[in-house]
Amino acid sequence: MRPVPLDAKVAAQAPMDRRKFLALAGGGVLAMAGDATAKPAASLLDLEEPFFAKFAKLFAISHEHKYLVASQKGSMPIPVLKRFKEGLDQLAADPFPVYLEPSAVTRAKIAKGYGARVDEIAIARNTTDAISQILNGLDWRPGDELLCSTLEYPNCVATIRRVTARFGVVIRQFGVPVRHDTEAEEIVASARRGLRPGKTKALFFSCPAHPNGLALPARRLAQLAQQHGVITVVDGAHYGGMFVPRLDEMGVDFWGISGHKWQCGPGGTGILYARNAALAANATPLPRFHLVRSGALDAPTDGSRPAGFDLGAALSLYGFPESADWRALGESCELWDHTGRERIQHYILALADYAREQITAAFGHEALLQPCRDGELKSGIVAFNPFPKPEQRRDWKLCEEFQARMLKECGYHVGCGGLGHNGLTRAPDPDAAAFFEGCIPNRDPVTNQPAPGDIPFRIGTPAWCNRADFDRFTAACLGQVKKLGG
Ligand SMILES: Cc1ncc(COP(=O)(O)O)c(C=O)c1O
Repeated sequence: MRPVPLDAKVAAQAPMDRRKFLALAGGGVLAMAGDATAKPAASLLDLEEPFFAKFAKLFAISHEHKYLVASQKGSMPIPVLKRFKEGLDQLAADPFPVYLEPSAVTRAKIAKGYGARVDEIAIARNTTDAISQILNGLDWRPGDELLCSTLEYPNCVATIRRVTARFGVVIRQFGVPVRHDTEAEEIVASARRGLRPGKTKALFFSCPAHPNGLALPARRLAQLAQQHGVITVVDGAHYGGMFVPRLDEMGVDFWGISGHKWQCGPGGTGILYARNAALAANATPLPRFHLVRSGALDAPTDGSRPAGFDLGAALSLYGFPESADWRALGESCELWDHTGRERIQHYILALADYAREQITAAFGHEALLQPCRDGELKSGIVAFNPFPKPEQRRDWKLCEEFQARMLKECGYHVGCGGLGHNGLTRAPDPDAAAFFEGCIPNRDPVTNQPAPGDIPFRIGTPAWCNRADFDRFTAACLGQVKKLGG
């Protein structure tokens, strides 16, 4: 694809290296010691806002009320959209070709930016599809256990429920500490308590998690899993496009990643990563993996992976895909590489810190519903509840009203709610009664007793935004909270 049409002077600014970035950020924002109440990375944002103002011009996002929910769906950059449309036109004129470009070419583009081998990357329909293929493809035996966090997304919870029921697998949950000063190792300790040597077959979690944007420490959890011979499966719906993905360095066995959220590819695109070799970060034997959806006639039928088996190719061969969307996904990945994934990550995270500071200044500390000191746990998703009284923060009707008014009166889409009693603990399990509508169905990390969290609102800080967007957003929240008697 042609280079991104950024202003030449701005594009020529060298992307910051991490040391310089941390220095600018006062060593706090991303450096694990950030405090939501401390001064934000003003100098980083001062420096980078002009660059990202140009970057924002690549998107057709309305300027009136900035779209803040890349965690729902991203916006395709205009040059990618243009090529996507060209691809659709080309195929409409001559529908015969199956692929606008061979899948290996698209997969190579993705693999380059995601730090993976081409044979480890498959093109999926979205995260839900990738996770469903992964969980259904593991070689389960009756009595195996699947250990998962309490912060999982409904679609994946649905898959977990079906897969475990079908194969006679036991679900175990580990609670996630969510205090402001929670540290990554506490989350690892909680997962460790849930592991049962010889029983736990797979560890499943999100990075970042859906209800509160917490980036579960994937690298540390993968190490823990490896120590116990456990397979790791990560829901990375919000990972690609937000973080610099170095998949082969994470030690994780499987990732399901959205192509259409922060990565801003077309709707219905996703990335399935399956480790396909012994790697420095994970040299454990490859788990047996059955191909649930593949048109590869000669692929192994027993889940084995003979040397040289191109798993990514086998998983990317299914019927007659649209293929204009596949190519556009590859090109969106190239655009991110060209812009600088590190630069994008730093900007998104610094903006999120800025948004947290605004929310804290307006509504107090307790408004933030996520860890915000340990930089390893932070993401570009900000979870908060602006209502001052605890009972208001757990009042589903009030929260729904706030969400509706933010859209109707102020033009902002705001994510809302957690899985509540529709999560992994359901009636007739008596624990389900502890979970209320819209809550985060968390558990105490030590006792495993229900510890439901307040109803979260969620916004993101995609790279087409700037600080003024979050000043305006916070002011809009303040207005609505006042109207609703907060
Ligand atoms: C953590 C998480 N996983 C999965 C999904 C579903 O994503 P997709 O549309 O890529 O299937 C979402 C959607 O918001 C999510 O937040």
